Amino acid sequence: MFRMGEMQDMVAKAADWTVPQDWDAYSAADHATWDALFARQAAMLRGRVVPEFLDGLDMLRMDRPGIPRFEALNERLMKATGWRVVAAPGLVPDEIFFDHLAHRRFVAGRFIRRPDQIDYLEEPDVFHDIFGHVPLLAHRVFADYMQAYGLGGLRAARLGAIDHLARLYWYTVEFGLIAGAGGLKLYGAGIVSSHAESLFALDDPSPNRIGFDLRRVMRTRYRINDFQQSYFVIDSFDDLLRQTQDADLGPLYAALEGEADIAPDALTPDDRLIHRGTQAHARRAASAED
Ligand SMILES: [Fe+2]
Repeated sequence: MFRMGEMQDMVAKAADWTVPQDWDAYSAADHATWDALFARQAAMLRGRVVPEFLDGLDMLRMDRPGIPRFEALNERLMKATGWRVVAAPGLVPDEIFFDHLAHRRFVAGRFIRRPDQIDYLEEPDVFHDIFGHVPLLAHRVFADYMQAYGLGGLRAARLGAIDHLARLYWYTVEFGLIAGAGGLKLYGAGIVSSHAESLFALDDPSPNRIGFDLRRVMRTRYRINDFQQSYFVIDSFDDLLRQTQDADLGPLYAALEGEADIAPDALTPDDRLIHRGTQAHARRAASAED
């Protein structure tokens, strides 16, 4: 049991779960890890990522060496779209997270991975959260989408539909593709912060690439410990925002309760199929586990 004073202290901290970034605590090795990750991704993403992402990197001056100071980043980001970044010690509860988004605050991890984790780590670190997510928060329409998602999350929590809404975040904000002038482009933060998935999501024949449909996405389960078996392709950020804002989510959630989930690799007759995946990667991974 907690004594009353401790309880109140915990509640006070839990109010928004934010902590100072404590930038001075980063070591030279931490900054070097950021620089190595940044140089590798910035070079490989040219021509592969949606141009608005590169515009965001430039506008926010994220190419300066070292882990960005959130305060400096926020000055530019606030001017662009009214968003800012706040630090949290780890994952925050869903409703706290949604509330931050609804108020145009993006919750970022402040630790950075160890050098031996440069290729992969499961937990989001400051490189994933800042490099992956923040450039598009400087884009007016995507910024509005993220806020709309937060507001939708607060509503979904009241309706007990967080799992369905989480799939929307997963297949757009984290692992989304977009149809560009010269073919498909990347925009999801989980892809653009990962060297291997930046290649896989665009070039590999294994995964399905399917035109985005809100209801289809909300029915689709996802994988958290390997590359995706299906990626969903939006036509534009405007279209994504419109589809999300126009949807009458209350009745949609009620309807989804009665519908079966779709497996991560499955196709349905209504899919707007852009590429039928071979699923060779997932089969290789499964047989390696046997
Ligand atoms: Fe993320």
